[in-house]
Amino acid sequence: MLSRHIDPDEIIKKCKEHPHRKHASAGGRRALHQSWVRDEDAAAVPKYTMPKVGIASKAAYQLLHDETALDGNPLLNLASFVHTWMPEEADRLIMENINKNLVDLDEYPAASVIHNRCISMLGDLWHAPKEGKVIGTATAGSSEAIMLGGLAMKKRWQEARKAAGKDHFHPNVIFGSNAQVALEKFARYFDVEARLVPVKEENGFVLNPHDAIQYCDENTIGIIVILGSTYTGHFEDVALMSALLDDLQARTGLDIPIHVDGASGAFVAPFAFPSLQWDFKVPRVVSINTSGHKFGLTYAGLGWVLWRDESFLHKDLVFELHYLGSTEYTFTLNFSKPAAPVIVQMFNFLNLGFEGYRKIAYKDLRNARMLSKALESTYFKVFSNIHRPASETNSKAISEGSGAGHSPSPIPKDGDNPEHYMAGLPVVAFRLSDTYKAENPKVKQAWIQTMLRTKGWIVPNYGAPKGAAEGTEILRVVVRETLSEDLMERLIIDILSIAESLMGPDHAFSGGEAAPKGITHPDHGHARPEKESFDGEEEKKEQVGFSSQC
Ligand SMILES: Cc1ncc(COP(=O)(O)O)c(C=O)c1O
Repeated sequence: MLSRHIDPDEIIKKCKEHPHRKHASAGGRRALHQSWVRDEDAAAVPKYTMPKVGIASKAAYQLLHDETALDGNPLLNLASFVHTWMPEEADRLIMENINKNLVDLDEYPAASVIHNRCISMLGDLWHAPKEGKVIGTATAGSSEAIMLGGLAMKKRWQEARKAAGKDHFHPNVIFGSNAQVALEKFARYFDVEARLVPVKEENGFVLNPHDAIQYCDENTIGIIVILGSTYTGHFEDVALMSALLDDLQARTGLDIPIHVDGASGAFVAPFAFPSLQWDFKVPRVVSINTSGHKFGLTYAGLGWVLWRDESFLHKDLVFELHYLGSTEYTFTLNFSKPAAPVIVQMFNFLNLGFEGYRKIAYKDLRNARMLSKALESTYFKVFSNIHRPASETNSKAISEGSGAGHSPSPIPKDGDNPEHYMAGLPVVAFRLSDTYKAENPKVKQAWIQTMLRTKGWIVPNYGAPKGAAEGTEILRVVVRETLSEDLMERLIIDILSIAESLMGPDHAFSGGEAAPKGITHPDHGHARPEKESFDGEEEKKEQVGFSSQC
């Protein structure tokens, strides 16, 4: 680890042995790529300005191929919810359709038809009312989908207020302070006051509907309920929120809708927790978003948003496109959009079917339970609760098959059915136990993240959401399809052996040796050419990890 007193740029400059290049690299060593390729011209190409003359495609490939080799291994990236593997046939479909733009309906009508079939399947999966006309669209991810869901609620609220001759300039939206940044982005980008309901550790760091109801007033456009908190994987209680809003309406006349942020959960709950009331079966849920690229099991670049009925998608958001002989409608933030992610979403629907998704959700949750139990029985406190038994009443309802919806599956005798446990995402959020911390007061939790990184694992350690005890940090593992039981066993061994190696007076960093600081971003300060202008920024307090909680 470099001391803070050493400037690596300066050291490297002094050590260079090719003065003839000095002139060319006047902007510092990072102004030019210094590639190993044998072609001299390709060996020094500008990094921050476009080269006057390009280099050969082979050399360009090699340069970027080498640079991206520094990225982490997606298989071992346990920080992210984003899926990283698809079968060969899906990869082939992607390459066959990589040059198609989804909005070019005339040119690519098949892609558009497949898109509409995806909407129909999702509407069915989420129990859109048969008598209504479900409507939706593919997006770049859940963030764009949340913007659209939020905008539709805002427009509807404004229209009602205008019609009633009331002020329509001060809309607010309510969600928990555990919300992913996309929700705050929506509020800030579209001038809606964000009313963040503080979350508490005793509620699993998620929105308490009883608290949320206190924040409602006549300017509330809606409440966003999160199905799968990014921090801990807990599901927020859509049914209770809805019941409390029904009660509020009966008392005050305020009719406040719910948007469900099912970025991860809308592709987990239908398969693993079919009894849970969270989707369009709840009449107050007007729209739902999800990420195809999370538990929808496609690569990055795909989200979905659906409205229970087209009347909830305000007409101001819909633009007509006139094509030869037909009229089509667009209601996304971006116009052009790759068709390939949508096509491979359909590939998954056909290839896996309900049963395939169910098996994967069961497996992910089983592996997550194994990790949770191993951690909890040793040196850690586990925040996530998918390994804790469900309440008696819940289990009884499941056994009797109430609300089974799509579920064809009887409860396996081995207790593998996730409904025997508390509902949530296959996520394990944990911290060092109080006993461990008391016995090893000098150990910093962030070291575990750093030491796991040396073994290849990417496990972020980040600050708990507002509302947690001061300084609470959470380590988090997202258990995805590619984290096999074999790998999980390896991970458990690595975490436990790291925790043990840090115990006692003779641990790895006890000799005054500089302990790992948690963050090393190669070239981070060089994301923009004028590095100096961005120096001196304070390190962000709430983010102590390699990766953001995405
Ligand atoms: C609950 C939640 N909402 C929204 C998002 C944003 O999703 P996307 O990355 O697909 O835009 C995430 C990402 O992790 C999330 O966990």
